[in-house]
Amino acid sequence: MPSVIVVGLQWGDEGKGKIVDVLSEKADVVARFQGGHNAGHTVVINNEKFILHVIPSGILYKGKKCLIGNGVVVDPASLVKEIEGLIRRNVQIDGSNLLLSKHAHVIMPYHIAIDQESEKLKGSKSIGTTGRGIGPTYCDKIGRTGIRISDLYQGELFRSKLKSNLLHINFLLENLYQSKGFNPDEIFEEYSGYAEKLREHVADTDIIINDAINSNKNVLLEGAQGTLLDIDHGTYPYVTSSNSTAGGACTGLGIGPTKITGVLGVIKAYTTRVGGGPFPTEIHDSLGELIREKGGEYGATTGRPRRCGWLDMVILRHSVRVNGLTGIAITKLDILDGLESLKICTSYKYNGRIYNEFPKEINIFNECEPVYEEIKGWKESTSGITDYKKLPERAREYIEKIQEMLGVEVQIISTGQRRDELIKIKEQF
Ligand code: GTP
Ligand code: IMP
Ligand code: MG
Repeated sequence: MPSVIVVGLQWGDEGKGKIVDVLSEKADVVARFQGGHNAGHTVVINNEKFILHVIPSGILYKGKKCLIGNGVVVDPASLVKEIEGLIRRNVQIDGSNLLLSKHAHVIMPYHIAIDQESEKLKGSKSIGTTGRGIGPTYCDKIGRTGIRISDLYQGELFRSKLKSNLLHINFLLENLYQSKGFNPDEIFEEYSGYAEKLREHVADTDIIINDAINSNKNVLLEGAQGTLLDIDHGTYPYVTSSNSTAGGACTGLGIGPTKITGVLGVIKAYTTRVGGGPFPTEIHDSLGELIREKGGEYGATTGRPRRCGWLDMVILRHSVRVNGLTGIAITKLDILDGLESLKICTSYKYNGRIYNEFPKEINIFNECEPVYEEIKGWKESTSGITDYKKLPERAREYIEKIQEMLGVEVQIISTGQRRDELIKIKEQF
């Protein structure tokens, strides 16, 4: 009963989309457990690019059951658009292979408005959210006023929940944010329309996934964002509003921790982050720009340029710990080809003191300076290499250093965007 979780170990965009796509070949079920359409997973198949937002990356293989779990927040308008867009590109999607939890929470237009208005009000202190309504939807979930997918089919009960929520939300929008409120009847009509389009997909995903596990199917649990964006274990408040760490897979799908057999952490060979918040190894000169251009480091969801920096062992040690990893996948090694030297951050310095672990106080974290170990780069191209022995010696040294410093086996190395540009050291299924 292999059930393998794939999580990002940095600030998201590690290339989980490609890794999940590759692993999906042998999976029977692929499930998303948290986040929403703030995520952008890019998968390249035969030079054709697909950007997935809330649909699991496994959908690009025929015959895989793809689940959107209870821990995910769903914008029905965006989901309908994503389904229709993929169908237009000849991806088969229907009620047999895409299933949506009845308990997933619904992103409403007022959540999007609050997300955007509250960011505006924060000004220079804004988080830099994707503006998709993610935070306010999880607020309602935790505050027990959220609307779940199953509510969309409950007629007047759905309308009365909307009315009751909009009592205080419209007050907030109109008075605090000086913005426009929403009409519950209009939302009711529009969202009932989306509900009809999604009806064939709505299911008890907790039962489906446990049945799959109990019948020894290969189950892949796909994380979005990354460990440092986790609401509990990330660089709070510069985080997203869900548990993007391995534990989130259990709560976000209704699986007991005893059923998980592996946790694969994905690391990009360097570091990127979109949005505000501390990033000690950020490169501020032209080298940062070079990496951004070569790595195509622009948000898959928002198109924003990603901040680029060196590999940071302090955050990675934390990520290894909180996720309980069984293996590591390293992506985008090819982007570092041709650099004279590479830096690896081994600790931070603040106020004359060395920090081997990242300071939990965000104001101190913000001021930390990286302490680097510098190693020689490699001149040769690693692009498309599929055999570990064929990697340049210095590239192997880089990989082995990461493995040694983190104490976790490197099991996959990605050397390009395409499915076949991959070194598989250990199979996950
Ligand atoms: P999040 O949910 O936002 O974390 O998404 P993600 O981790 O799936 O990453 P995203 O797709 O946003 O960004 C990764 C980008 O790198 C995509 O354009 C991928 O096609 C590309 N990519 C992945 N692996 C490699 C690789 O090994 N080499 C190169 N050159 N590109 C890669
Ligand atoms: P939110 O998830 O839209 O609330 O955004 C909160 C923070 O998480 C912001 O810094 C975003 O840039 C970041 N974020 C959210 N989703 C992703 C993602 O898929 N990749 C990278 N960063 C993300
Ligand atoms: Mg992404």
